[in-house]
Order: sequence, then C-alpha cells, then structure tokens
Amino acid sequence: MRTLEELEAKLAEPSKALVEDMKSIDGDIMLLGVGGKMGPSLAKLAMNAIKEAGVSKRVIGVSRFSEAGLREQLEAEGVETIACDLLDDEQLQKLPEVENVIYMAGTKFGTYGKEYFTWAMNSYLPGRVAEKYKNARIVAFSTGNVYPFMPLAYGGAVETTPPAPIGEYGSSCLGRERVFEYFSRKYDTPLAIYRLNYAIDLRYGVLLEIAKSVRAQKPISLAMGHVNCIWQGDANEIAIRALKVCSNPVNVLNVTGPETISVRWLAQEFGRRFGVEPVFEGEESPNALLNNASKANQLFGYPKVSLLQMIDWMTEWLEADGATINKPTHFQERAGKY
Ligand SMILES: NC(=O)c1ccc[n+]([C@@H]2O[C@H](COP(=O)([O-])OP(=O)(O)OC[C@H]3O[C@@H](n4cnc5c(N)ncnc54)[C@H](OP(=O)(O)O)[C@@H]3O)[C@@H](O)[C@H]2O)c1
Repeated sequence: MRTLEELEAKLAEPSKALVEDMKSIDGDIMLLGVGGKMGPSLAKLAMNAIKEAGVSKRVIGVSRFSEAGLREQLEAEGVETIACDLLDDEQLQKLPEVENVIYMAGTKFGTYGKEYFTWAMNSYLPGRVAEKYKNARIVAFSTGNVYPFMPLAYGGAVETTPPAPIGEYGSSCLGRERVFEYFSRKYDTPLAIYRLNYAIDLRYGVLLEIAKSVRAQKPISLAMGHVNCIWQGDANEIAIRALKVCSNPVNVLNVTGPETISVRWLAQEFGRRFGVEPVFEGEESPNALLNNASKANQLFGYPKVSLLQMIDWMTEWLEADGATINKPTHFQERAGKY
C-alpha cells in the first residue's frame, strides 16, 4: 500500500455482505457532513456497493465543501453533491427529502475557548436535522468520548455502560445523541447511534501519529497507554449497514476494532519495522478511553482489515512518503480539552 490510488481503491471496496445489504436498503442515501476525513471514502464505498448490487439508488453528499476539488472528485464517482451550511436553517430546509441519512457533521478541535460553537454544532444542529428528516431512517455518528475512562481489566465500555463524558466535547456529543433520541421517540424515526473510537486510514489517525513519533525518535506519552482503532473502510461499511438496524427505541452501537491495543506494544511493532528503539515518556494509567464493540461484531462480523495489516500498510506508507492530513486525534488527551 504505497499510493493514494491504492489506498482510495481499498477504502472503497465493498464486502459481499455490504453489497447484499444494499439490495434491501430502500431509497436514496444522504451523507450530511461528507467533506471530512471519512465522508468521501464512505460515499465512494456506497457507490461501489450500489453498482455491484445492480440497484438504482442515489448517494447525495452534503457539506460546505471547504476543501477545494472534493466536490468535483465525488461527482466524478457518481455521487451527487449539494453545498450547504447545515447551521443555516434556510439552506437545511431546502435539502431534498430522502429515505436514509448518515449524519457525520460535527466539530471537536478548537472546542476549548469556543465551547458555545461546539454545543451549537454537536447538540443543537442534530435537533434541526432530526426534525427535517423525521421521515427518514438515521445513522448518527457519535464517539466513544461519551463514556468515562474504563479500568483496563473491564474490557472496554459496552453500550449499556452509563455515559460520563470528560469535558465539553464529549458532553456535547452526548447532547447530540439525546436530542436525536428525543426526536426519534417523538416522530417514531428509526435511529442508530454509532459510537466510533478512532477510525484510521494511512493519512491520519492514532497509528500514523505513533508511527511518526517512533520514526522521528520523539517521546511517546504512555499516560493514555491503551487505545482502540478500526480501519476506516470497515468503519464506513458498518455505518452504511447500520441503516438496516435503525430502530425506535434507538439502537446504540460501539464501533471499533476487537483489540485493546497497548500503545507500548504498538510503538515497539513500529520500532522493529523501522529499525529504531521507541522513546517512551511516563507510565501507563490504570484506565483509558476504551470501547467494546462485541455487539457490532456480532451484527456485522469482525473488521476485514486486521491490526497487523494496518501496521504493515502504515509502515510502507511512511517509507514511501505517502500523503498525510494534518489533523491529529489528540488521543493522549485525558482532561477532555480539545
Ligand atoms: N474519525 C474518527 O476517528 C472519529 C472518531 C469518533 C467520532 N467521529 C465523528 O464521526 C464524524 C465523521 O468523522 P470525520 O473524521 O469524517 O469528521 P470530520 O473530519 O470532522 O468531518 C466532518 C465534516 O462535516 C462537515 N461540516 C462541518 N460543519 C458543517 C456545516 N455547518 N454544514 C455542513 N457540513 C459541515 C465538514 O466538511 P465541510 O468543511 O466541507 O463542510 C467536516 O469536514 C464526526 O462527527 C466525528 O466527530 C470520528
């Protein structure tokens, strides 16, 4: 895995299960907030699954399209696009009706000092969207940050673990969930809440950050000594397939890889591949932000891309000077300030 073309093709490769599900997902699919790290590859994956399924269905990507060229790129793949600032209610109300909505818009970084905006984006806007799309089924992206840190011995938070977010970002995301749920109950809108812990591709994410630090011999903090992650292609598959399990009452799903990954082990794996000794700072804490995705694994199967495969691809990518997106995850953050 060395070129952007290879990476994009891999991310957009649908599984047989997704193709099968696509045959029975009724109606068009709208992705709100398509312009971010995950949306473009999700849109292309959905298009490929539709083609392979031999069904007729539109994928409509909605975003402000602040990244130049993205709109054209998506249109070239057959994705319809609509430029819209969702926070502008007039623009929101003009969007077409659809049967399926995957809600990906949100904000995280820059919350500290601008908390009011984070709450408007993450907790108020979901209410506007839930009213507008009360007749659709909705998969709403959320985050593992709604949970408290879990002791390492517990195997990660499950969907019934009481939420206890640390800091205003996580709290605003819990607000998003509760507001979607309120309108789901009010209008009988089928809803799935998709609590994601760190999707990665080779251009961004926890693995890239650790690999880069190992290679540059920069100290790696062990304070958040354990993490979860999932290949973005697998995470995107689950988001689309979750349209089939939306319900009222809401269906909550943790989405991540099956491992509780030790940051120390991960750095050592990269160290062996790069031929350097990782530099560590501090010691592992007795708890961490950890999710248990057993429920999603039972529903959809285990992710197709394994952790060691991701590590190998990441190594090749860095050795080939592959493109990266400068959007650090701040996975080390323990005070909830983003
Ligand atoms: N990636 C992860 O590992 C991860 C982990 C946990 C949770 N999540 C959540 O999952 C969702 C998708 O992840 P992501 O990484 O793709 O997020 P992201 O990179 O933040 O993308 C979200 C996109 O939404 C669009 N958007 C923001 N404000 C908007 C507005 N007012 N109107 C229209 N579009 C707007 C933006 O694109 P434009 O600038 O083009 O409008 C933005 O790039 C996010 O809500 C994120 O918080 C992601």
